[in-house]
Order: sequence, then structure tokens, then C-alpha cells
Amino acid sequence: MLQLSLWSLILKRHLDVLLCHDDELEGRRIAFILYLVPPWEKSDGGTLDLYSADEHFRPQQIVKSLVPSWNTLVFFEVSPVSFHQVSEVLSEEKCRLSVSGWFHGPAIVRPAHHTEAPLPRSPHIPYDHEILYEWVNPVYLDMDSQAQIQEEFEERSEILLKDFLKKEKYQLLCEALENKGIQWSSRGPANKRLYETAEEDSLPDIPKKFLQFLHSEALFLLLSNFTGLKLHFLAPSDEDEDAGEGRAADAAGNSGPKPEQEETEQHTASDPHQPDQPDNIPEAQDGETQNGSGTPVCAGELRHWTHGHYTLVHDAQATEFALDLLFFCGCEDWDPEYGGFTSYIAKGEDEELLTVNPEDNCLALVYRDKETMKFVKYINHRSLARLRKHPNRTGFWDFSFVYYE
Ligand SMILES: *[C@@H]1O[C@H](CO)[C@@H](O)[C@H](O)[C@H]1NC(C)=O
Ligand SMILES: *[C@@H]1O[C@H](CO)[C@@H](O)[C@H](O)[C@H]1NC(C)=O
Repeated sequence: MLQLSLWSLILKRHLDVLLCHDDELEGRRIAFILYLVPPWEKSDGGTLDLYSADEHFRPQQIVKSLVPSWNTLVFFEVSPVSFHQVSEVLSEEKCRLSVSGWFHGPAIVRPAHHTEAPLPRSPHIPYDHEILYEWVNPVYLDMDSQAQIQEEFEERSEILLKDFLKKEKYQLLCEALENKGIQWSSRGPANKRLYETAEEDSLPDIPKKFLQFLHSEALFLLLSNFTGLKLHFLAPSDEDEDAGEGRAADAAGNSGPKPEQEETEQHTASDPHQPDQPDNIPEAQDGETQNGSGTPVCAGELRHWTHGHYTLVHDAQATEFALDLLFFCGCEDWDPEYGGFTSYIAKGEDEELLTVNPEDNCLALVYRDKETMKFVKYINHRSLARLRKHPNRTGFWDFSFVYYE
């Protein structure tokens, strides 16, 4: 016998979105939604999109989009594959009001979630410091500024290094990223992320070289100097110091309040109250065994971000001590209101610890601990307004790398 739980009245307005999730939570069996909307068109957004799933219970693609209409009841069985989203509300005037809830029953046994292979980690590639002089703004190779950066980093656990690359190099890199020959492929699954990554073989020379730079021994050393972390056996060990203690500093630049509801929904798109899935354990262990060898490693990718892209905080997200590096290209006139910023939050809380906004030729370094999670905010359709000023800029790129001691 199923029991009806609390109903909620849900109001969605312009730009609101509820990204892909399955609604699974102990005992939820049937989900229902009653729409109380004014006359609504597909072009108003806010459709209820249903996903197909693969054999590992991962959402694949949207196979049905339901346009809400007044006094219409929608219901579906909650299951390991009941993935759905509410797409971005595009109408500026209309409100998408609905009543929703669940019928609960005895919990049923759910299949174990698929374990996702983490990005491959590798030790540095031998390259001497020449590669630094080739790429990096000389300001950052100066010993005094490195000492200053380290001091600030150790205090705040994060730092932004503006004009990080030499101007000419940076321009060449950005131009090369516009190359039409680069093959971009979509990275999912939708309940965790949606963005594009470059097929490395299709990359022109300059971005390929920049990826090597990010893997280079010289950069491991430079990052050690910037952060006080031991990313190379030659880096001084400061066991005694409180280098990078704690997580991304909460004192750091929050970019102002965000609509409460929107934020909450994004964080909980995969329900945090769900019982722990086994798949976050192998990932964490994996990190430990790899780093147990004492060899610092890194993993990373080149990503393209545009309207509709995002990442979500999810249960299986690996959380471990690590140094995040983000380097941005093609973000001229990017407004944080479009989304696309990286937000760090404390596990199990909605409090925002730190926001990193996309900024041209800017290197962001963030040290995080086991209690810190991150996500990239959904990029809304306002971002398309930028095309009026920059006809060829549908989005931006970033090089996202993680370094492990
Ligand atoms: C790191 O700092 C040391 C001095 O503490 C210096 O000798 C070395 O050249 C620096 N490394 C890089 C890559 O700048
Ligand atoms: C945009 O791309 C077109 C064709 O690829 C090119 O001819 C044009 O110069 C570009 N415009 C800008 C502002 O870069």
C-alpha cells in the first residue's frame, strides 16, 4: 500500500532549471506533478524532459519533452532509470507553477550504481624550465613574486594569477582553439555533467603543447613554489608548516548572493540524502593507492563550455586533497550571470566557500580537502546575448587539471 507524502508547491521563473536526476530516495515509488501554468508553449522552456538510460543505469539522451499545461497531471514510477529534468524557463513573464509529491512504499532494492573510471592520472613529463620561459609571463618566474604568491596561497588556499601566459602565447592559444578541425565530444552522463572535451589527436600544435606544459616537470616545480605543496621530490617539504591547511578559504571572493532556490536545486540534483553509493569508495581508494607511491600525479582535460552546459555535485564525486588548476580562454565579456563559474561548497552543505569566474588568461589555483566539492554552474541562455558583441564566441574554453601530492 502506497502512502502519499507531503506535497510541495513549486514555482519556476525565468532562467530556473532543475537538472537531470532520478528522484530516487528511500521509499519513493511514484512521482507526480500537477501543472498550474498559464497557456504555455514549448518556446517558453520549462519542459519536463525524460531521458533514456543505458545498461549501467546512466541517463543517455532526452527522448521525450512534455510541455506543461494547466490542470494536467503527470506521474511516473521512480526507478533507477527515471532520469528527468526541468529545462530552463525561457519566458520572462510567465511563472511555471506546479504541485508535486511522491507516493511512498516499502523501499525496494536498487542495483549498485556503475563505477565511473576517473580521468587517468600521470606523473610529470620531463621538461626543464625552458618551457616556463617559453609560456609564462616572466613576472611569475621572479623569486620574490613566487614567495609572495605562496604566502597568500597558504593563507587562503586559493589564488588567481592574472595575465599568466605571455600575451603573444595566449593569443596564439586562443586562436588555435577556434580551429574548426578540433573534434569536440560531449561528456556526460547528464546526472553528473554536460560539456565538451577535445579529442587530443585533433588538436592543433599550440594547444597540444600547452597540454604538455601542464604535464611538465617544470610546471610541477613552479606549482610547488606557488603553493608550498610537494608536487616534485625536489620541492622543499614543509611538513611543519600549515601549508594549504583546510579547504578553499571562506574569506574568498564570493560573487554575491544567488537566488536561493536555484542554488539549492542544483546542489541536490542528485539527492544527497540518498544512501551512500559504493562507487565513491573505489575512486577515493584509487587516489590513495596511486599517491601512496609518493609520486605526484596530475589529470586533466581541455573543455568547451556553452549554453546548457554544467556539472553537478553528486554522491560519487571523489573528494580528496588535491590542487585544482583552471586556465581560461575566450571569456572576453563573460558575465557571471550567464553561469559557467566554478563553485566550491562544503560537503553536505549549501554554503558557498569560493567562486571562480571565467577570466581570460587567468590561472586559478584552489587547494581543496576531503570535505570540499565543486560544480560548474549551468550556463543559461543569457550567455547567447554575448554573440551580439562577439559573433564567433558561443562559449569559452578551460584547461581543467588536478594535481595530487
Ligand atoms: C622554485 O624556488 C626555488 C627557490 O626556492 C628556485 O631555486 C627554483 O628555481 C624555483 N622553481 C621555479 C620553477 O621557478
Ligand atoms: C568569425 O568567423 C568567421 C568565419 O569563420 C570569420 O570570417 C570572421 O573573421 C570571424 N569574426 C571574428 C570577429 O573573429
